[in-house]
Amino acid sequence: MSPQQVVAAVVVLAAGQGTRMRSATPKVLHELGGRSMLGHVLAATAPLEAGVTLVVVGSGREAVEAHLAAVAPDARPVLQAEQRGSGHAAQVALDAVPDLEGPVLVVNGDSPLLTPATLGALVAAHSAAGSVFTVLTAEVGDPTGLGRIVRGADGAPRAIVEEKDATDEQRAIREVNAGVYVASAATLRRVLAGLSTDNAQGEQYLTDALAPLVEGGAPVAAVRAEDPVDVLGCNDQRELAARRRTLNDRVLDALMVAGVTVVDPATTWVDVTAAVLPGARLLPGVQLHGTTTVAAGAVVGPDTTLTDCTVGEGATVLRSHCSQAEVGPRATVGPFSYLRPGTRLAAGAKVGAFVETKNAVVGEGSKVPHLSYVGDATIGRGSNIGAATVFVNYDGVTKSHTTIGDAVRVGSDTMLVAPVTVGDGAYTAAGSVITQDVPPGAMGVARARQRNVAGWVGRRRPGTAAAQAAAAATGAAAEGTAGSRPDTDGPDRPAEPAASHEQ
Ligand code: UD1
Ligand code: CA
Repeated sequence: MSPQQVVAAVVVLAAGQGTRMRSATPKVLHELGGRSMLGHVLAATAPLEAGVTLVVVGSGREAVEAHLAAVAPDARPVLQAEQRGSGHAAQVALDAVPDLEGPVLVVNGDSPLLTPATLGALVAAHSAAGSVFTVLTAEVGDPTGLGRIVRGADGAPRAIVEEKDATDEQRAIREVNAGVYVASAATLRRVLAGLSTDNAQGEQYLTDALAPLVEGGAPVAAVRAEDPVDVLGCNDQRELAARRRTLNDRVLDALMVAGVTVVDPATTWVDVTAAVLPGARLLPGVQLHGTTTVAAGAVVGPDTTLTDCTVGEGATVLRSHCSQAEVGPRATVGPFSYLRPGTRLAAGAKVGAFVETKNAVVGEGSKVPHLSYVGDATIGRGSNIGAATVFVNYDGVTKSHTTIGDAVRVGSDTMLVAPVTVGDGAYTAAGSVITQDVPPGAMGVARARQRNVAGWVGRRRPGTAAAQAAAAATGAAAEGTAGSRPDTDGPDRPAEPAASHEQ
């Protein structure tokens, strides 16, 4: 243990089955606020900079170990093959580090609201009191299901009694065990070795470590948490939802204090890992997940979900669903846009209604305003992609890239069959299927020529409203066939300019 380290080890108890969750997912892997329950506990203990962090695993071991490897590779899993109680779990952990000395923090893996401040205060109180075993407690309104802290007439802690083993008198106690302890490794080893299973659940309770120490005259302490909410555990789905709400309230409070506008905190959900800068506005129904960051002056929502996205200053993202996308400063997204991984919108770019993008770079000031799919594409600056354009990037086997230059006008309903390049300043005619490169300044036209069959409606749909309207317009008899011409192509005429649908 180095001099700065206040605890030699952190032991997280995470082997329990979590039966009350009634879920195939191991309890500590349930998520709230962007992290697993276990992830929150590890984040709260991280600032202690313990020499080693041990996580006791058992139920759902493979999944918990895989999760640990991903989120906390430095933490060491220790297997508790049979779940014989929290005391047994702590013992298994200490057995894995036989040479360890000094204070050890033991914490339940199902306490996602713990904060570094609460844990720091507990550790500080432990060392200030010269205690060998210190338990974190809280005064709660409803202590149902929790271990009660029994204090003597002098106020000193005497025992922790589980609810199932408590007398009526003890059940009335509202000071409860938080499931967080600091103890000297040597003391803990000794006392855990002597635990019995003589209790209502037939388990070795970690909580039973306290009473024998008191009886032996060892210095112990019970420290109340400043905020009782911090210590709330999570045993079933209702508690999980309640903890998630509390965590979210904390995140939103901090954002609002810092100057973020949150129009409707009840429908706004921000992960602890997301960042929103002062001056940003979150409208109702917004969810910000993962590493999402929202810059000052940006407006997100209503009804928008962003996962691992970056939203630049002054950008707007309206009623959209985006993941791993970068929205540049002053860019606009939505309503109803779907930005998928690898999307990068430069400053002032626009992606509008019913547009899906993936692996797509949209250059400064360029627009994809309506009803388009843009996949595997690079679009230069100041270009416009007409409505209902599709970047046809997949031939069933491989994906190919499309490059659009600067100041390009892609006509509405263009199919850009990749790999293909449209040069700077080029146009494509509306309705074209572009399979060959369009050089700079050229117009690519690739569509069947139109022919009009004169008088067809009057001949083939006589008596209809269309026929009458046509007759009125042309002065022909509504039902007659006079003046009809054979079906022929019209005269040749040059392709018209692309009718790009631009705003
Ligand atoms: C525990 C405490 C209780 C306290 C409450 C706070 C005990 C006996 N009781 O009760 O006093 O008020 O936490 O939330 O400790 N675990 C293992 N291996 C096992 C059994 C449990 O690793 O064999 C782990 C669980 O995964 C969990 C923690 O220990 O993270 C506590 O177990 P749990 O069953 O949730 O205990 P509670 O009934 O909540
Ligand atoms: Ca629990």
